[in-house]
Amino acid sequence: MKSMDDIFSRYEGAKRDSLIPILQDVQEKDGFLSFDSLLAVSRFLNLPLSKIYGVASFYNQFKFNQPGRYHIQLCRGTACHVKGSAKVLDAVKRTLKIDSGQTTRDGLFSLEVVACVGACSLAPVVCINGEYYAGVTPESLDRILDTYREKDKKGN
Ligand code: FES
Repeated sequence: MKSMDDIFSRYEGAKRDSLIPILQDVQEKDGFLSFDSLLAVSRFLNLPLSKIYGVASFYNQFKFNQPGRYHIQLCRGTACHVKGSAKVLDAVKRTLKIDSGQTTRDGLFSLEVVACVGACSLAPVVCINGEYYAGVTPESLDRILDTYREKDKKGN
């Protein structure tokens, strides 16, 4: 696994214009930007932490919470909206007690609202760890989440 030093070694002498690519590399390594990694980037680039955080939080691509073992991406594009994705989103937020961008306390699930994932004919679409589910309803998503809970218990 890559370390922060491995990443920094590729940016020797870097200035602030390398901030975004460095943050992208860190997120690719860890799946999110932790406080410690932001602090390390701040020291490496000799930029204030507030500046680093300000830039990172401007872009949707950066996440500040550790993703759950099962990362739920719920599409809120137009086709999915028309087919009822808002109800599915409300239900999943209520069930898991998290908002988009958050992870459940047990670390099992994280939720991300995404724009069209290019599978509009299957709307509403939910993707969990890269697996797509079509025509999702609040009820069917409940059952889907149960299968992941079971999977997790079995250590898969
Ligand atoms: S709008 Fe959801 S897949 Fe296109």
